Amino acid sequence: MCGIVGYIGKRQAQDILLPGLKRLEYRGYDSSGIAIILPEKNTISVRKSPGKIRCLERLIKSKPLSGGVGIAHTRWATHGAPTKANAHPHTDCNNEIALVHNGIIENYETIKEQLIREGHIFHSQTDTEVIVHLIEKFYKNIPLEEALRKALRLLIGSFAVGVISTKEPNKLVGARSGSPLILGIGEGENFLASDAPVVLDATKDFIFLDENEVAVLAKDSFKIMDFDGKTVFKDKVRINWDIAQAQKNGYPHFMLKEINEQPKIIENLLNARINKETKKINFEEQNIPEENLKNIKNIFIVACGTAYHAGIVGKYIFESLCSIPAQIDVSSEFRYRDLLIDSNTLVIAISQSGETADTLAGIREAKKRGAQVIAICNVLGSTLTRESDGIIYTHAGPEIGVASTKAYTAQLTALYLFAFYLAGIRSVLPSSKINKYLCELRKIPKQMEAVLKEQGVIAKLSRKHANLGSFLYLGRNINYPSALEGALKLKEISYIPAEGYAAGEMKHGPIALIDEYRAVVCIAPWSKVYEKMISNIQEIRSRKGKIIAIASHNDKEIKELTGEVIYIPKTDEIFSPLLVVLPLQLIAYHIATKRACDVDQPRNLAKSVTVE
Ligand code: G6P
Repeated sequence: MCGIVGYIGKRQAQDILLPGLKRLEYRGYDSSGIAIILPEKNTISVRKSPGKIRCLERLIKSKPLSGGVGIAHTRWATHGAPTKANAHPHTDCNNEIALVHNGIIENYETIKEQLIREGHIFHSQTDTEVIVHLIEKFYKNIPLEEALRKALRLLIGSFAVGVISTKEPNKLVGARSGSPLILGIGEGENFLASDAPVVLDATKDFIFLDENEVAVLAKDSFKIMDFDGKTVFKDKVRINWDIAQAQKNGYPHFMLKEINEQPKIIENLLNARINKETKKINFEEQNIPEENLKNIKNIFIVACGTAYHAGIVGKYIFESLCSIPAQIDVSSEFRYRDLLIDSNTLVIAISQSGETADTLAGIREAKKRGAQVIAICNVLGSTLTRESDGIIYTHAGPEIGVASTKAYTAQLTALYLFAFYLAGIRSVLPSSKINKYLCELRKIPKQMEAVLKEQGVIAKLSRKHANLGSFLYLGRNINYPSALEGALKLKEISYIPAEGYAAGEMKHGPIALIDEYRAVVCIAPWSKVYEKMISNIQEIRSRKGKIIAIASHNDKEIKELTGEVIYIPKTDEIFSPLLVVLPLQLIAYHIATKRACDVDQPRNLAKSVTVE
């Protein structure tokens, strides 16, 4: 969704803001803009453009902006079409204040009517523009941050904002309530950004703003206050992500790079979490006491998108390994349900970004009812991690491709490890059995490498089917969520209609779709439901559906039923989702590239959905 970057310091702001915007591209956007204070004339100069950042870049190249204080923005349209007028930054009537905003202002219409009555002139259809006019209204003999605080108190909705003004040209102000905003702290320069990778090449020291906080940055100092103006002291957090991790490293797309990173990430995770000698599993930020975890009566998992699919696998794992009833909901449903949860419920919130609005709202509801919340999250210091009782970091590194890949397998791995940990402390599995499972889990990175070695074959097979009109993905039991994830990957990046189904439901509807123009991806590794999948394959075959099967090595039976088989190494069926998903990701990737789709930034999608 919308992204913010702001700079104040010794360098030319445009040299920081433009590359910063490019690093925000992955969040999804449809227009962009930049505003810089030109010190010679003490005026604000704004450049905006619909479309890709390169359009904005061209504008700036033809007329560079010289100045060390500025703000920039990638917009993902909510109110008003993605036009130049609606792109941020927005300015006040006198062009003295410029503002960028991420979020939604729900009561903007009434505020706008009032401001128009008072003589303010609006130039866009956005909800955002009311904020800059409100600041203008209050900005009379008081500092910018105070005018901003007065304005923000009138707003209902969610926001992160960055503001500059020619009246105080050595100041950059930011605020958050509901949308993420962080400060990057450098030497002789400071930054505002929606997330850390945006300015990771300039600093590794960050401060995460909490809800209802305002930050005032100068080039050598910063201060933070709450919306009442009371000073807040916060510690810097060092983020050791390498900037190279946020670059493509020779791959044509981030998505392909991230798919190929998975074996290493899982191996690192297992090495970090399982003590080699004692075989004990440790989670350094999992702060819920073991005693509380022993006593929980049920688990509720909440998540969105790909993280939701990881959560469904989690449900199967917790029920089978820990003998605890587990439920799962998409966060947008969970938050509005009459939740039957209490202090005996453990809520597990899964989120790559830790900023997904519905997931955050979900855990807030859960906490109100006394539930304990664990976050499985990839982004250090994100809102979800700060609001949860315990955290399990997935340590997958920055995920830039909008379609989630490595975050998914890291989430699955975290879920397996947590399930073994829980099974151990609740004494529902003997340690010998847990150790046997862990041995099998440790083989997964090498087995993933074996699957990735077959990329050429998978690419060829996928491209062959790139022109089909729709895809059906079928799986059973613990690979039912794999079917959902395979279909989601394909529709996200190739725009081909794709549905994931529990294979047992095929006869209750999807079978009507099957003919020679449709592909059916059948997920059929060795498992207790293998024979059932074979029956599905037979039924599809007799209706001339094109079958792509994913099966365990040496499965000759499947080979006889369909020529198109992708093999994965044999593992315990409980771990099979970790292997199955690799061909599913690659199928989607190669079909999308064959169709010349923008794999890393698919249309209409955002990496981090920070509004409801
Ligand atoms: C968006 C992204 C998905 C992601 C989902 C949940 O839809 O495009 O890739 O799975 O949000 O995001 P989260 O950060 O909470 O995992």
